[in-house]
Amino acid sequence: MNGAAESRVVIEGSVVTRPAGPWTPTVHALLRHLMAAGLSGVPEPLGIDNDVERLRLVPGAAGSQCWPRQATEHGLRSAARLLRAVHDASQTFVPPDGAVWSVAEVAGSEGSVSKGTICHGDPGPWNMTWHGNTATGLFDWDFAHPAPAIDEVAYALEYFAPFRSDTEAIRWLGFRNPPDRRRRIAAFVEAYGLDCVTGLVDAVIARQLQTIEQTRSLAERGVQPQRDWVASGHLDELRARVRWSEANRALVE
Ligand SMILES: Nc1ncnc2c1ncn2[C@@H]1O[C@H](COP(=O)(O)OP(=O)(O)OP(=O)(O)O)[C@@H](O)[C@H]1O
Ligand SMILES: [Mg+2]
Repeated sequence: MNGAAESRVVIEGSVVTRPAGPWTPTVHALLRHLMAAGLSGVPEPLGIDNDVERLRLVPGAAGSQCWPRQATEHGLRSAARLLRAVHDASQTFVPPDGAVWSVAEVAGSEGSVSKGTICHGDPGPWNMTWHGNTATGLFDWDFAHPAPAIDEVAYALEYFAPFRSDTEAIRWLGFRNPPDRRRRIAAFVEAYGLDCVTGLVDAVIARQLQTIEQTRSLAERGVQPQRDWVASGHLDELRARVRWSEANRALVE
């Protein structure tokens, strides 16, 4: 989730300290698995002390520095390849007994590309590290959960396409000109390795609705920052994003 939460996160040298949740041991097991599978761009888990987790900093530019980088076609394609590599490496993860995820697991449909995929859950460009215009790493794994990979492609496309107005894209998302969303969706999908874009806009809308439910559920359980977000009306903003996607199909399909 893209919110200013730097105060919850402390970086000292190459070590990141952030709040831990009941899901953190499961996430650390996943990160160890991904590293053992050869991925170098995920944070190495260093330990959990009560309600705090420690992780290795993934090198590169991060956070709001991502926007002009992801706006390039090279950046877009590199992010799609990174996501695919993460999904492929996650296939062989065997969750520990009593695994806990922060958000509900999503069952895959028969024959989907995603059998056994663990999704990152929040793979926006701001949660990636960048070297130049290349996405090289993925951090902030709090929302990881088993789900069809297509859900995660849909989540990423909301931001990479983007499913936002030209004004927002230029003001906030690093674009110099109105983005060619159809072209960017096709490039992302090709670099990820999906066969076609059919049904993707519906998948983005379904994933946007899922984000509303996930945010509401986390807030209800008192998880921060979602609790504060919901109290200050964030769900209305999320609903407006769904309406934008429904009203602007002509721009994206
Ligand atoms: N493992 C990491 N490697 C590199 N940078 C990190 C790492 N963890 C956190 N950061 C830095 O700290 C910032 C906030 O961390 P993180 O994304 O984990 O927290 P957050 O509360 O989820 O924030 P946001 O809502 O912006 O996603 C990131 O934008 C990034 O600059
Ligand atoms: Mg983050």
